[in-house]
Amino acid sequence: MALRRIFTDRESALHKVCKTVTNFDQKLHQLLDDMKDTLLDANGVGLAAPQVGILRRVVVVDTGDEILELVNPELIETSGEQVGVEGCLSVPGKYGIVKRPMVAKVKAQDRNGNWFEAEGEELIARCFCHELDHLDGIVYTQVMDRFLTEEEMEEM
Ligand code: NI
Repeated sequence: MALRRIFTDRESALHKVCKTVTNFDQKLHQLLDDMKDTLLDANGVGLAAPQVGILRRVVVVDTGDEILELVNPELIETSGEQVGVEGCLSVPGKYGIVKRPMVAKVKAQDRNGNWFEAEGEELIARCFCHELDHLDGIVYTQVMDRFLTEEEMEEM
């Protein structure tokens, strides 16, 4: 088990457009394994490679049943709308109100380069959108309506 340091949004890695993965090699597998360990250790729902300082299009998402590995993910379908609270491991101690689709479908490659599709609702749809934004250098604070107030955070 290897944990990686989680970068904050004050660091430039969080604001860069990530590159497509072309080598499905041991280095990618190690990155995915480390990202899964790091996500579980941090009690997060999703983690994108730039959050551990790697500017590649790689995301892991904990659906509750399994941890999805999404390499070169693309949003292919969305429907509905939800307005809710969102946080980010790279923005510790803060939460914001963000509008996202209610359902989101992505296509992605697995660690061996095979394409597959995954659909998520509610929290998972929110997570897909949030993590894919990270790959384009977008942090939720750039697309949110506003931060939660301290009073609202106490109520949570
Ligand atoms: Ni995030």
